[in-house]
Amino acid sequence: MIDAFDAALPKRLAEPVNASAYAPSNIALSKYWGKRDAALNLPLNSSLSISLAEWGTTTSISPAETDSLTFNGSPLSDGNFARKVWAFVDRFRRGQELPLAIETRNSIPTAAGLASSASGFAALAQALNGAFRLDLPQSTLSMLSRYGSGSATRSFWHGFARWDRGHAEDGSDSFARSLDVAWPEFRIAIIPVDTGPKAQSSRDGMAHTVDTSPLFAPWPARAETDCAAIEDAVRDRDIGSLGPLVEANALAMHATMMAARPALNYLKPRSWAILESLHSARHEGLFAFATMDAGPNVKLIFEDIAADDVRSLFPEASLIDPFAYSAS
Ligand code: PMV
Repeated sequence: MIDAFDAALPKRLAEPVNASAYAPSNIALSKYWGKRDAALNLPLNSSLSISLAEWGTTTSISPAETDSLTFNGSPLSDGNFARKVWAFVDRFRRGQELPLAIETRNSIPTAAGLASSASGFAALAQALNGAFRLDLPQSTLSMLSRYGSGSATRSFWHGFARWDRGHAEDGSDSFARSLDVAWPEFRIAIIPVDTGPKAQSSRDGMAHTVDTSPLFAPWPARAETDCAAIEDAVRDRDIGSLGPLVEANALAMHATMMAARPALNYLKPRSWAILESLHSARHEGLFAFATMDAGPNVKLIFEDIAADDVRSLFPEASLIDPFAYSAS
C-alpha cells in the first residue's frame, strides 16, 4: 500500500524558507473516540468541533544549522513533546538533510487545562507547508496532521469543522473540512477543574476502552448518527436541539470509558458537581449544555443571551466568542 502521507508530498523537498502559522484549538461537539488503525490514526467514527478563536498555537520555522525546538520561549531538547514534533517533521523530510529551528507558542492559558496537541499539529503542518513551499490545500494538511493527533485534523479553520472518518484503507479520505456556518451568538465556557497533566493520554485511554469496554461495541454507529444530527443542528443554528445531543454524546463516550476494565474515569467530583449545578440551572430555564473530553474540565455551549447567567453560576469559567476572532 502506498503511504498516503508520502503520496501527498513531492519526492524531494525544496530548501526551507521562513514561515509561520497559527491554528486555533478546538473542542469536539461530537466526539472522536476509538481508532480503526492506530498507526495511521484512523477513527472509527466521524466527529465535529468548534474552534477556540484566539486560543491556539503559533509555530514559526526557519532554516538553521542544526535542529532546535523552543516551546513558549524555552528550549526543548527531549521529552515526549519534542519526540512527537520531530517524528512528524521527519515524515516530511524523509531523510533529507534540512535542519530547522522551530519555535512554538501556545496562547491557551495553562490554567484552562486544555490539551494543545490539536492546535499544535495543525500549526506545525501549516508552518511546514509554508517553509517547504508545498502549497498543499487545507484538506491535505488536515489529512497529514492526523498522523500527529486525530483532533488536529479539525483545527485548520475557525468556527465549526467536521472530520469525516473516511473509508480508504490508507486514510487518504480521512480529513476534516469547515462547515462554513456562521453563528455569531454561539459561546463556549471553559470551566477548569484540574489543570495538571492527565492521568492517561487520550491515545492510551481510547485503546484501553476499545480493547476492554463491553459498552464500546454500540459506540461507533451511535457516534456516527450523533455526528450527523449534530451537524444538522449546527446548520440550523438551533441550540435547543444541539445542546442535548452534544451533552448526550459526551456522556455516552464517558460511559464507554467507565465500563472499561479496569475503569477509566477522567471526571472528578467537581466535574459532577458542575454538571449537577448546570442541570438545576437548566430546570430554572438556563439554556446551556456541557461536554467533557479526556480530562476533568467541563466545557459549556450556549448563546450570548445566557452568558451573564453562565458567568454568575461559574465565576471561574473563561468565556470564548468563537466567531469574534481577528482574522489570522
Ligand atoms: O486526537 P486526540 O488524541 O487529541 O484525541 C481526542 C479525543 C477527545 O478529545 C476525547 C475527543 C475529540 O474528538 O477531541
